[in-house]
Amino acid sequence: MFVQRCINVACGSEFDLDERIYVCSRCGDLLDVEPVGIDDRDAESLRAVWRERRLSNDARDRSGVWRFREFLPFAGEVEVVSLGEGNTPLYDAPRCADYCGLTSLKLKHQGNNPTGSFKDTGMTVAVTQARKLDMRLVACASTGNTAASLAAYAARARMQCAILVPDGHVSEAKLAQALDYGATVLEIEGNFDTCMRVVQELAEQSSLYLVNSINPFRIEGQKTVAFELAEQLDWSVPDHLVVPGGNLGNSSAFGKGFRELLSHGLTRKQPRISVIQAEGAAPFVRFVRASRDLDESSLEFVNEKDPLTLASAIKIGAPVSWKKAWRAVRETDGNVIAVSEQEIADAKAMIGRDGIGCEPASATTLAGIRKLVRDGFIKKEETVVAVLTGHLLKDTDYVIKYHSQTLTAPEDDPETPIRGTFANSIVRVAARPCAIESVLKNLA
Ligand code: F0G
Repeated sequence: MFVQRCINVACGSEFDLDERIYVCSRCGDLLDVEPVGIDDRDAESLRAVWRERRLSNDARDRSGVWRFREFLPFAGEVEVVSLGEGNTPLYDAPRCADYCGLTSLKLKHQGNNPTGSFKDTGMTVAVTQARKLDMRLVACASTGNTAASLAAYAARARMQCAILVPDGHVSEAKLAQALDYGATVLEIEGNFDTCMRVVQELAEQSSLYLVNSINPFRIEGQKTVAFELAEQLDWSVPDHLVVPGGNLGNSSAFGKGFRELLSHGLTRKQPRISVIQAEGAAPFVRFVRASRDLDESSLEFVNEKDPLTLASAIKIGAPVSWKKAWRAVRETDGNVIAVSEQEIADAKAMIGRDGIGCEPASATTLAGIRKLVRDGFIKKEETVVAVLTGHLLKDTDYVIKYHSQTLTAPEDDPETPIRGTFANSIVRVAARPCAIESVLKNLA
């Protein structure tokens, strides 16, 4: 049996799973979904069941999320809303390892999900919960990926879906997805934080179901990525796990997943979880830095009023899940740092050179790892996994501009070019074999 429990230990209020709340109705803090009672699940038999399910054709077994359903808060035979999410590759990335000064580096590519981002692993659970609650209308605020994901899962569940996006700040590819899946796309004047505030107000007043990562069922789905990753590593755990940070749901979910794996004896340790933000949208970095000098009672989370970054997915100044992410970082002795636009752009190109590719927000991880190796926080021989959160094709405008040397810094400083350090420009060539041959001869 599971309950929704307030993360504030001094409060600790518990709520039934079917209560449609997103924060504690007593103290306003975030909620976790947690099991209650004695837990006698045995690690070895769980591993065996999960392994066996990989050979099954049952939709729940094919899903990289529902395969781990012993750790999901649904009793018995729930009808899941699934698109076959999860089961994403874990790649070796030798060029990226070299770039960072590491012996090896692995990339867990969550962009290989049905709608091209990690959001699907959480959305399958949140929309399944929406169906269980008999909801007709689901909603979210989004920088684009949550929108695309929700639109798809709502369509599968035959639900109405409203998404609030900041006008002019979402990539075309993500908008195209949401439109094609039939969502009602509402462009709002303001940024993501405005959209988030408005949709939360709306969720209090009306009978829609909010599925941003403030919803603890989203986190339940996303935590299974830790299970899948540990399984891919034969139940060992990397020394470091590095994740981009925007609204901070993903880092929170990894923290919860690895905590549960350890407490059930499925793994022997937790990875040190580090969160990387873009310099222009780094309120969590500033908060964690301040937390080192101040005692907890005088700490206050200060939002970034006007977040700026070309990595539009993480252009967020008021992350709703910062407390859970902070818990994950503290518990695992991780780190929180910021990287520049130039560092993100070059890291992204490097991930491309390994034949993998990702969207800009995901590349903060590689840029962050490079810095953390330089600073001695990550040692050369340590095992490191970076989480890539979105597919390369989510933002092709950025890619073309980088490779044609026309990428410029975000709005505040449009005159500052971002160097295409690893630019790969298009070659215009005459329609003659000899002209093409002479270009090819010059390749290294
Ligand atoms: N990477 C990508 C590609 C994202 O789309 C997001 C968040 C993040 C990283 C940050 O993850 O918020 O869990 O810390 N995108 C949200 C959206 C906000 O609306 O699609 P987080």
